[in-house]
Amino acid sequence: PLVSMNHFLPQAKKEGFAVGQFNVNNLEYFQAITEAAKEERSPLIFGASEGAIRYVGLNNIVALAKVAAEESGLPIALHLDHGSSFEMVMKCIRAGFSSVMFDGSHYPFEENIRLTKKVVEAAHAVGVSVEGELGTIGGVEDDLDVAEEDATLANPEQAIRFWEETRVDAMAIAVGTAHGMYKGEPKIRYDIIEKVASNIDAPIVLHGGSGVPDESIKKAVSLGVGKINVNTENQVAQVQVIRELLDKNPDMIDPRKYLGPSREAIKEVVKGKMRLFGSSGKA
Ligand code: G3H
Ligand code: ZN
Repeated sequence: PLVSMNHFLPQAKKEGFAVGQFNVNNLEYFQAITEAAKEERSPLIFGASEGAIRYVGLNNIVALAKVAAEESGLPIALHLDHGSSFEMVMKCIRAGFSSVMFDGSHYPFEENIRLTKKVVEAAHAVGVSVEGELGTIGGVEDDLDVAEEDATLANPEQAIRFWEETRVDAMAIAVGTAHGMYKGEPKIRYDIIEKVASNIDAPIVLHGGSGVPDESIKKAVSLGVGKINVNTENQVAQVQVIRELLDKNPDMIDPRKYLGPSREAIKEVVKGKMRLFGSSGKA
């Protein structure tokens, strides 16, 4: 069965590694990510955004995640990514999600706390873990589009108070990464990570994990990041293979012929991230 993130996040924070949230876009992502986790013996979080849920279908997502958990025997969480409302969170929990993010980062601080608390109360009552967010992450992801100048870093004192009042299981804070690939190198505010991580029990979540240099990831993990979200890098790896294959083979019509090899490319990216995050061997 699917497990909540509390199956592995406390251990991650204690032992100083991070578990990857790999976003799912279609069937091949489920397969590639699960194969990677099997080979790496790693715990794993499937991230499903509201856009992905619309595309794949809510029940299809739950079914695919359950099959992955059952067949692999690995600790796998199915997590709603950037949930925008209490209603959406409830819909996902009812359908079988084992974890949810409520992203109230665009609300005023007190309102974010109030709404997140409500989600935590309902989710914890049925053993579902919750991620909250403070500060806004720049870039584009599905329904979210934040101009770089509108991205605001999390205030560490506020983040600590947010956690104390909501008791979320994972705390996403904006520290300088962005959704999508980077134009330049992200300037990560390690001081914010360190300050918040050392004052709360929950691990910090790093969104926009794609395109962040390995050294920056390692440093962030060493300071208390326990969950890292990756989507764009997998999409880039997938489409590169498909583009090349279709360019070279104009007669290729069987989707298995190009989706299959592109699935291998996703798997390799995920394996590399699991090693980098330190989650390999932790399942
Ligand atoms: O919530 C999902 C992530 O933050 C993905 O970010 O597409 O930049 O890897 P990314
Ligand atoms: Zn995100």
